[in-house]
Amino acid sequence: MRRILVTGRGGQLATGLEASLPAQGFEAVLVGQPDFEFDQPETVQAAFAAVRPDAVVNTAAWTAVDAAEDDEPAAFRANALGPALLGRLCGEAGIPLVQISTDYVYDGLGTAPYVETALPNPSSAYGRTKLAGEWAALAACPQTLVLRTAWVYSPVGRNFVRTMLAVGAQRPELRVVNDQHGNPTSAPDLADAIAGVLARVRETGWQASYRGVFHAAGSGHTHWHEFAEAIFAAAAPFGGPRPVVHPVGSHEYPTKAKRPANSRLDTGKLKATFGVELPAWQDGLAQVVKALHAG
Ligand SMILES: NC(=O)c1ccc[n+]([C@@H]2O[C@H](COP(=O)([O-])OP(=O)(O)OC[C@H]3O[C@@H](n4cnc5c(N)ncnc54)[C@H](OP(=O)(O)O)[C@@H]3O)[C@@H](O)[C@H]2O)c1
Repeated sequence: MRRILVTGRGGQLATGLEASLPAQGFEAVLVGQPDFEFDQPETVQAAFAAVRPDAVVNTAAWTAVDAAEDDEPAAFRANALGPALLGRLCGEAGIPLVQISTDYVYDGLGTAPYVETALPNPSSAYGRTKLAGEWAALAACPQTLVLRTAWVYSPVGRNFVRTMLAVGAQRPELRVVNDQHGNPTSAPDLADAIAGVLARVRETGWQASYRGVFHAAGSGHTHWHEFAEAIFAAAAPFGGPRPVVHPVGSHEYPTKAKRPANSRLDTGKLKATFGVELPAWQDGLAQVVKALHAG
């Protein structure tokens, strides 16, 4: 197994994989819009035929959570029909498909960290379409490995860390919700973990235990208010802003899509199966803040 097709070229995770896969001896071939477009299935088939991959990592998705409420059919095309097609192509070629999914497949009503056997019950269009994508990929390709991740941020792209630092530089006071709990996940750390998983698959060959759903997210958990405070604390030594961050409840900060209150993920199955564990979320944050200020 050598050549890995990575979809979603311009995205946070794909950018991370561009560095992490070669570090494990893989060749990463990144494809993106407009020449790789789920709304034009022939472009997906053409990319697959041109690259002739040994495995696929599908990071591409409609990730605009609130906007998905206004156009669920379009989100479904990217998040469900896209993985269905990739699953079919990977299944026919007899190669593994790593399908990236989300903590938003859970309703967040549980009080403990979720394990993979918990029943999904998405409360948003984004969550519904991503869950459909998991099922489609698993149904079409025997060698499907679904990785549910959460709260992804990186030195590039649109994410909470960059938004906080930009808004914090403009306003002396911010309000951030403190009643949604989850695992902040650095895209570079997640990319390293995916490369580690693929290295294990290369080493052992495909095993029956690799098929199915795994949680892959930063170790430890927090809520958005504490995460915001940690971002400003990490950026301060680099001259970053230090606004006052007021905790508020979700009811004071209404959004179009409903978010889970508790989407903390238990990542023990990933460690037990592949020997892969992401660093503590605070360590991932420190690395990304450092990279932001170096760049
Ligand atoms: N961001 C989060 O907080 C978060 C949380 C949980 C799970 N996830 C999941 O993690 C994965 C990676 O997320 P990310 O943060 O790296 O996402 P991202 O930065 O938003 O990148 C997603 C990429 O998908 C591609 N894309 C979007 N619509 C497409 C379409 N119709 N056809 C083909 N490509 C399309 C785009 O890349 P090109 O324009 O280059 O093609 C886009 O850059 C996604 O599957 C996402 O659902 C993310």
